[in-house]
Amino acid sequence: MNVGTWPVAELHVHIEGTLETELLVTLARRNNVPLPSYDPDALRELYRFTDLQSFLDIYYANLAVLRTEEDFYDLGLAYLVRAARAGVRRAEIFFDPQTHLANGIPLAVVFGGLTRALTEGRENLGISADLILCFLRHLGGAAALETLDAAIPFLDQFIGVGLDSAEVGFPPSLFTEVFAKAQALGLHRVAHAGEEGGPDYVHEALDLLGVERVDHGIRAIEDPDLVQILRDRQIPLTVCPLSNVCLQATPTLGAHPLPALLAAGLLVTISSDDPAYFGGYVDDNLAAVEHEFGLDPHEMATLARNSFRASFLPEAEKRRHLAAVDEHLEGLLRLIS
Ligand code: HPA
Ligand code: ZN
Repeated sequence: MNVGTWPVAELHVHIEGTLETELLVTLARRNNVPLPSYDPDALRELYRFTDLQSFLDIYYANLAVLRTEEDFYDLGLAYLVRAARAGVRRAEIFFDPQTHLANGIPLAVVFGGLTRALTEGRENLGISADLILCFLRHLGGAAALETLDAAIPFLDQFIGVGLDSAEVGFPPSLFTEVFAKAQALGLHRVAHAGEEGGPDYVHEALDLLGVERVDHGIRAIEDPDLVQILRDRQIPLTVCPLSNVCLQATPTLGAHPLPALLAAGLLVTISSDDPAYFGGYVDDNLAAVEHEFGLDPHEMATLARNSFRASFLPEAEKRRHLAAVDEHLEGLLRLIS
């Protein structure tokens, strides 16, 4: 019997980071956008990163191929099809509207394509999915406020706001006003913090932005007081192990703080971040940590359960997914007993 993949929620994935080089080439040809190569393998060869910025430079440049509603639909649906294979039952998906606005693409085009893909995913792939609008921290607080105002006509098409892009030098304190406004609009709030920035960035995200989850957050392990706060409040961390290795936030997977974060009792979840760039989707990330740290089925079930607990789903839906995790665990234990 093959019990397949763990049912999981993916809570940290940038839809722009799911642009595989095959689709990149298709869209470049469709829209007459020049690329350094039209060979998907050769393009992937260029993905050798030394830090977050070295990744962001290529990631933003590639997004010039996204021009039409159809392009955003194709991007969204391709992720959902792959995510379904990875066991994803719930996806809370980041997107970066400021990048597309800078490329001359109206918000209506971005929302139109992505929302249509999510509807298709819900109806035909059985994945519950919603969007989280991310502000680019390198563009500052005033630009973030402008973006939120521009997105108000689309409030029914996203459930929260996030904060991504270059971390160091752009602390959460720059974004207090826009996060307060998002809260007043009834939106969920999350932020990347503690990926390259220190534990002080995680403190700020909690204290000044009121975030409900921390994206990455791995450097929290350096600050025992912060670890205690995250544990006491059960603030989820959306940890992306293959991303952390690729961007050298950790020297090796074996040196990753995941086991220490779990041992400290934190609500740790696993996600893929930018799977087209970092060598794997959420199933690959789960398999990598299972193998590297010798996690047993009970520990894997904890990661799967945490993902649903940390999601923004209603409690009744969380319970339904948690029951599916238990069922998967039982099937697995029967198989290996
Ligand atoms: N960190 C910050 N910004 C990002 C990332 C990330 O891992 N991926 C896409 N934008
Ligand atoms: Zn990210």
